[in-house]
Amino acid sequence: MADFDYDVLVIGSGPGGYVAAIRAAQLGLKTACAEGRETLGGTCLNVGCIPSKAMLHASEYYDAAANGSFAKLGIKVKPELDLDTMHGQRKDAVKGLTGGIEFLFKKNKIEWLKGYGTFTGPNSVKVGDRTVTARNIVIATGSSVTPLPGVEIDQKVVVDSTGALELAKVPDHMVVIGGGVIGLELGSVWRRLGAKVTCVEFLDQILPGFDGEVRKEANKIMKKQGIEFKLGTKVTGVTVKGGKATLTVEPAKGGASETIEADCVLVSIGRRPNTEGLGLDKIGLATNNRGQIETDHDFRTSVPGVWAIGDVIPGPMLAHKAEDEGIAVAENIAGLTGIVNHDVIPSVVYTMPEIAGVGLTEEQAREKGEVKVGKFPMLANSRAKTNHEPDGFVKVVADAKTDRVLGVWCIASVAGTMIAQAAQAMEFGATSEDIAYTCHAHPTHSEALKEAAMAVTGKPIHI
Ligand code: FAD
Ligand code: NAI
Repeated sequence: MADFDYDVLVIGSGPGGYVAAIRAAQLGLKTACAEGRETLGGTCLNVGCIPSKAMLHASEYYDAAANGSFAKLGIKVKPELDLDTMHGQRKDAVKGLTGGIEFLFKKNKIEWLKGYGTFTGPNSVKVGDRTVTARNIVIATGSSVTPLPGVEIDQKVVVDSTGALELAKVPDHMVVIGGGVIGLELGSVWRRLGAKVTCVEFLDQILPGFDGEVRKEANKIMKKQGIEFKLGTKVTGVTVKGGKATLTVEPAKGGASETIEADCVLVSIGRRPNTEGLGLDKIGLATNNRGQIETDHDFRTSVPGVWAIGDVIPGPMLAHKAEDEGIAVAENIAGLTGIVNHDVIPSVVYTMPEIAGVGLTEEQAREKGEVKVGKFPMLANSRAKTNHEPDGFVKVVADAKTDRVLGVWCIASVAGTMIAQAAQAMEFGATSEDIAYTCHAHPTHSEALKEAAMAVTGKPIHI
């Protein structure tokens, strides 16, 4: 049998890659991880989940102080924005967590090969000046921002999510292109800090992929918070002059164009898989028509010994999906049975209130068969009402015959935390009755999930 430098080489250290490397090492496999960034943790820890949540958290408090929410609680303050300190705590969060991964690598004796990896053959990869071999190679190279043709990102006036996290001053007018997750989260940050924000979305509604009613309600709430929306509208050009941008937009279905002036434009129209420069041709591995690497259920690619996980393969581009795939791929490499249930991957938008869902939307469920739906408004939930958080609802979609829960959707201040319970219930094949008869602590927002489950059979108590 051929000798290899490593049992496992992971390319990319995002939530997919670093988790795969740690699990492989825990299972006794000699493991290395190639990463070209200066710090470990990938998009998520460096320029994604973590820094965006740091800015969302801080801006939420600022907004609560500025918009009178604190005053309603009897706390009178006049906030003063210290953007440098706000950015400082964001950087601290990133530094702490990326450093934490480096510590975990050392603890688990994982070698960090510094540099970008390129295949030189099926079991060999060049990283910097070094070529290493491995019995198994896991591609976990993640994704990057999808560019908008003809629009140049200069990270000054026209920014992507990375630039939008680091703005040195609050823009007067930010135009967000794309009403998806990044558009809503980062649009909310700068709106709360005082910018006028206009969101231009190509489709007739924001947040594609979410439940229809949730999309509509989220749109209403975001509008109430001051974000202006131009739905069914496409951007046909952006010109930048003297630090100002002029956008030309027109109805997506065609029609008269108009211009919008802005001093900051955020391009957030999706992300695409990172495969360029990987040398996939050297191992005869093709990508699909969306540029993704296809795998089987075990995360094997068509090339023996080469596996792939995370944003670079099909499925939602989410950190927790990548992490679970990281554990599963390492377990499969070690000869165990690593499985990810792709039907139960929760999705959360960290606005205030949060917007979350798991499983099928009501529309998808109705296409598959007869369903029963239970809904409960947060306005009727004692804790949400006490906390002055009346917006949103919980909705449970269940199979009409078996009562099995097919999907749960919610808008609530802590929807991201509440959705974990729904995901667990679905993993256990729960019926709406199972949730309805589970004792939930009072007073909690989660009682709204119980009551939405009770509403599936028409019997909630508090409405
Ligand atoms: P990545 O995290 O993209 O990591 C891939 C790594 O591979 C990178 O560090 C890259 O440098 C490295 N790499 C690429 N090519 C090579 C090579 N040839 N050699 C060596 N290294 C290479 N998801 C959530 O679930 N929750 C959130 O709140 C959330 N917020 C987000 C906010 C923003 C602004 C963005 C942009 C994304 C957010 N995401 C969020 C999505 C999340 O970041 C991704 O789904 C996740 O990072 C994907 O993990 P990954 O391991 O597949 O790839
Ligand atoms: P997205 O796919 O969520 O949204 C992009 C939006 O842009 C869509 O609504 C789409 O219709 C619209 N669009 C596309 N082309 C357009 C055009 N030319 N003009 C106007 N609108 C256009 O992508 P986004 O927000 O860039 O996020 C990328 C990925 O990052 C997502 O897949 C998401 O899963 C992940 N992410 C996850 C977060 C979370 O879990 N909280 C936070 C941020 C990002």
